[in-house]
Amino acid sequence: MNIAVINGPNINFLGIREPGIYGAASLDEINATISREAEKRSVSVSFFQSNHEGALIDYIQHCYHNKVYGVVINPGAFTHYSYALRDAISGSGIPFIEVHLSNVHSREEFRHISVTAPVCHGQICGLGPLGYVLAIEALLNLGGFHQ
Ligand code: DQA
Repeated sequence: MNIAVINGPNINFLGIREPGIYGAASLDEINATISREAEKRSVSVSFFQSNHEGALIDYIQHCYHNKVYGVVINPGAFTHYSYALRDAISGSGIPFIEVHLSNVHSREEFRHISVTAPVCHGQICGLGPLGYVLAIEALLNLGGFHQ
């Protein structure tokens, strides 16, 4: 079973960028933890990060063609305004879980809105890197649960 973990703009800057908000771990360190946890669950994970909206959309379409089982996505700031990303998610027919390291609901007002979460199965935020692992666990347990 293959699950994709997709990260959007500036997530490659973790460890450098506002560590008081996003923590000290780099994306490579977080991905290593995700890989270890996925291995325990016999899941293979593909990682993709881009700072570019079109590249993220291309990769979501690639996930469709490659019959990826589910996707964990942190769309970064695209969360708050990218209808193109939202359309790519809903058009793929793949179950997505949206993850944010920070609690977007306790931050600036523009972060309270997610245009992508309504087309995902759920959203996990504010739990740091653990959110990615919990999202994989959620995908494995979706079963027939469709909202
Ligand atoms: C983020 C929250 C977004 O509002 C922000 O633009 C990010 C990171 C998070 O993981 O907490 O880039 O997605």
